[in-house]
Order: sequence, then C-alpha cells, then structure tokens
Amino acid sequence: MHNFLESKPSKKLYIETLGCAMNVRDSEHLIAELREKENYSLTEDVKEADLILINTCSVREKPENKLFSEIGAFEKIKKKGAKIGVCGCTASALGEKILKKAKNVDFVLGARNISKISQVIHQPKAVEVALDYDDSLYMFSKNVNSNFKALLNISIGCDKHCAYCIVPHTRGKEISIPLDLLLKEASKLASSGVKELLLLGQNVNNYGARFSVPHPKIDFTQLLSELSKIEGIERIRFTSPHPLHMDDAFLEEFAKNPKVCKSIHIPLQSGSTKILKSMKRGYSKEWYLNRIDYLKKLLPDVGISTDIIVGFVGESEEDFMESMSVLEYVRFDTLYSFIYSPRPFTPASTWEEGKVPKEIAKQRLQRLQDLHKKILTENSQAELGKVHKILIENNKQSEIETFSEGRSDTNRLVKIEDKFFNLGEFVDIKVTHVRNATLYGSPC
Ligand code: SAH
Ligand code: SF4
Ligand code: F3S
Repeated sequence: MHNFLESKPSKKLYIETLGCAMNVRDSEHLIAELREKENYSLTEDVKEADLILINTCSVREKPENKLFSEIGAFEKIKKKGAKIGVCGCTASALGEKILKKAKNVDFVLGARNISKISQVIHQPKAVEVALDYDDSLYMFSKNVNSNFKALLNISIGCDKHCAYCIVPHTRGKEISIPLDLLLKEASKLASSGVKELLLLGQNVNNYGARFSVPHPKIDFTQLLSELSKIEGIERIRFTSPHPLHMDDAFLEEFAKNPKVCKSIHIPLQSGSTKILKSMKRGYSKEWYLNRIDYLKKLLPDVGISTDIIVGFVGESEEDFMESMSVLEYVRFDTLYSFIYSPRPFTPASTWEEGKVPKEIAKQRLQRLQDLHKKILTENSQAELGKVHKILIENNKQSEIETFSEGRSDTNRLVKIEDKFFNLGEFVDIKVTHVRNATLYGSPC
C-alpha cells in the first residue's frame, strides 16, 4: 500500500556553469528555485541526473561552439527520460534556433528569464528569452557556493553597447535593483554568517541610473557607503566598474571606506584612443591613465586587474603597442586577455576593413601575456615581507602539499603551508616566499 506520508525522493539536477560571475549567481538561483519548489538535489554525476542544465556564455565564439558538442555528449550518456535545458546568454542570443539545431533540448531559458525555471521545466519545448522581462525585483535565492562569501546582483543588463560586445543582446537593458532590497538581503546574509560580499553588475558604478520602480536618487558611491554600515559584513568587492564612471568621489570612497577591499577590476580593452573610440568605450587612454594615477595617489598598494582585447578590427601594430605600454605603466596584478571574436548583433562584426589576421592576433596575445608574466613575477617579488589579512577559503591536502589558502584585501591568493584554519577565518600572515607567482606566508 502506498504510504502518503513518505516524502517523495528528490530528483537529481546536474548543472554546468560557463562564463562570468553573473552566470555563477544565476546558477545559484536555478539551483535554489529547483530545490525549494521542485524537490531537486544537486548531483555531480550527469548519468544519474533527471535534469541537465547548461548555463551558457556567448561573449566569444569558442564557448558557444562548445555548447552543441556538449549537448551531443550529454545525450549519449544521460538517463532515459532525463531533460536537457539550455540557459543563460547563448540561450538569449540563439533562442528557438537551439531547439532546431539540437532536437534533444527540452527548453531554452534566457539570461534575463532565469527566475522562470520552475515553470519551463513543465513546458515541453519552451523558449523563454524575452530581453525586456524585468527580473530586477526577483526575490533572491540562497547562495550555495560558500557560507562566508556571497554574490549579490546590484543591477541587471547593460546599456553600453560597446561595438564588439553581445552582452546587451543577451541580458537586455540596464536596471538597478532597489536599495531597500539590497540592504535587506545583505543584512540577511550577514546574520547567516556571510563576511564578504561581491557586488555584481556589468557596470556596477552606473548603479542608480534606472530603476523599474520609483526610487530616490542614489549612485554607486552612496550604495557602497550604505552597504558598509551593515554589521557583520567585513569586506565588500565589486565587478565590473566602468572606467568612464570613475569620478573622484567614487575613487575617494573606494580608498577611504575600510570595508571596501583595496582591489579593483578596471577593464581597459585597448590602450589606443583610436581603438577605444571605434570600440565605443566612451573614454580615452589619457582618461584611463588619469584615473589610475589618482587611484594610485590615494592608494599606492592597490591591486588592479583588467581585461584587454587584441586584434580588434583596425588595430595596427602601433595601437597594440599602446596596450602594451599601458600594461607596463599600470603593472596590473591580473590580466584577462582575449583575441577579438566577432559576435552576432554587434556593429563590429560587420566591419570588413582593417580585420586583423588570426596569426597576428595570436602573436599579439602571446606578447601581451609574456609581458604580463614578467610584471606579475616582479609584483610578486615586491610582496615579500608584506603583512596581509587573509580570509581563509580552502584547506587542501594532497600527496604533494598540505596548505590553507585565502585572499588578501588586495585580492592576492596566499598559501600557508602545513597548517589548517577554519574556513571564513581572518588570519594575519607575512609573505615569506614566492613560487611561480604564488605567494606563501606564515601567520604573524
Ligand atoms: N561589462 C564588462 C565586461 C563583460 S564581458 C566590462 O565592460 O568590462 C567580459 C570581457 O570579455 C570584456 O571585458 C571583454 O574584454 C571581453 N569581450 C567581450 N566581447 C568580446 C569579443 N567580442 N571578443 C573578445 N573579447 C570580448
Ligand atoms: Fe559589454 Fe561594454 Fe556592456 Fe561591458 S560595458 S557588458 S563590454 S557592452
Ligand atoms: Fe557573462 Fe558570458 Fe553572459 S561573460 S554576461 S555569461 S555572455
């Protein structure tokens, strides 16, 4: 006889997350929605999954191509009756085409429609990709990746329309999330033990430009100040700010607010004003360097990371050398570098004149990365003897080494050998040696 009191066994969800931190956060929403509303639990074994989700990225061509081979591979090993859903930015960009190209996909859920997951799993062949869907008021789901660090979206979408970038076509127009929702969520996170917030948005420092509900005037500088008043939140990071919106007030708040970590991602894209103009970035090399100079005047030890694209349409050797010279001048701690990849919907993808041959773009990427490697080695040597407060993120034990690791305020990863600490604990360490640009230290 059936026992009605017996709880239903949970269904298994396998999820793969590609792309940026926004996708990581969206995957957390997907997991939490399915766990709370549909009784799913996570599995790492795709063969036992009842539902397979691929949370896709479409910023460059490569990950998009990988998607279809991946769907084919999942189809071969998946359990009979298991569903496959394609979510995220490629879902937004390709929509219906995904169902046409991959017959075994059950639904397509765009990056702007993530909150509809528990509906689409019951709608065979659903395609939910509307770019004007407003999920800026969507109730936050639990963070799942860490107990002491949390991702917090402060805005959705992007209005910038840089000439190379597909993101505005996958995430729609920019809408900020109301301050009261953010404060409520941040306080809730703090009372559950979260110490570090990573604020997310495509242009975080454009916060407050547009809300979908009536809202008092506010900007990112004020938001930082409000969030830092929350007791228990000890560190605040954010990604990505846009160089154009880095006014003095913002840099000053960044420098003086003790809870705001002293590391910042300032995407350069190119060091050539001519290329920046054709990219429609809205700033010049001089403006970028002016902001760097002011920031370093306020905070000489600040950690700076950046994104650089090489081989953009029209990039000459001289233009490329300007990117190299900015890299040399700023001495970024972390560099994310990419070969320009033409994307659908973007103006640059239709430009024929001045295309850079693949071979030259590859060589430029290599030259840029070689220079960065040299800078990183020198930056790391300069860390010797410095004391950092690190937040412990991992304890690892392997046949080769045993260590605890965490990040400094300036976002450098530091390892402490032959010791374990509690995850989420702050430890003061002194950097004692450097191996392959990794910092090692001991408690002090
Ligand atoms: N909003 C962020 C960028 C998000 S996309 C900003 O403005 O900085 C992340 C990075 O991918 C970009 O900074 C850019 O360097 C890179 N990127 C975007 N489109 C690209 C393309 N078509 N080809 C190569 N790299 C690209
Ligand atoms: Fe893309 Fe530019 Fe928006 Fe960044 S600011 S997401 S690069 S359009
Ligand atoms: Fe992020 Fe890739 Fe979309 S970088 S915004 S997941 S296109």
